[in-house]
Amino acid sequence: MMNNKFLTILVFIIIGISLAVMLSNNRKNNMQYTLSIIKPDATARNLTADINKFFTDKSLTVVAQKELLLSEEQAQNFYIEHKNRPFYGGLVEYMTSGPVVVQVLKGEDAITKNREIMGATNPKNAAEGTIRKEFAESLERNSVHGSDSEESAKREISFFFDYDEVTKK
Ligand code: CMP
Repeated sequence: MMNNKFLTILVFIIIGISLAVMLSNNRKNNMQYTLSIIKPDATARNLTADINKFFTDKSLTVVAQKELLLSEEQAQNFYIEHKNRPFYGGLVEYMTSGPVVVQVLKGEDAITKNREIMGATNPKNAAEGTIRKEFAESLERNSVHGSDSEESAKREISFFFDYDEVTKK
């Protein structure tokens, strides 16, 4: 009788501790998804595998990937926030000039981490060891795009991917 009561209490304590550990791990591991695009200047030079190595070296996993030729309408809508910027027309023209590889990256703090891995938008300002320092040709032909916030990541991932296309959720 005593033994049964003791065992029940012990089981509850173990479950309680396990749940607390799981919850604190989840909070510590800020697991995120982000959208990455390998742009036409990079696909033209067959850089997809080289660029993916930058991600995997920093513990980001490519959980979805496909090569597309964007239509003018897709490129316009994707970059709609830049609609009134002077470079918008050129950006749309460039992004439709050749194939792009759209990807979902997963990892701890994936959004910020990917932006660090990519380097500054303008390759002239990109740090050593970043994708843009290594491969980008100019501000426009800057090899990669990455979501800049959780809100953009949600919008941009769902712009290109259905839920069932993302593996290892
Ligand atoms: P990306 O991260 O894809 O987001 C918008 C893109 O617009 C950016 O990378 C650059 O390639 C491009 N861009 C940003 N600023 C300029 C600019 N001043 N002139 C031309 N292109 C720009």
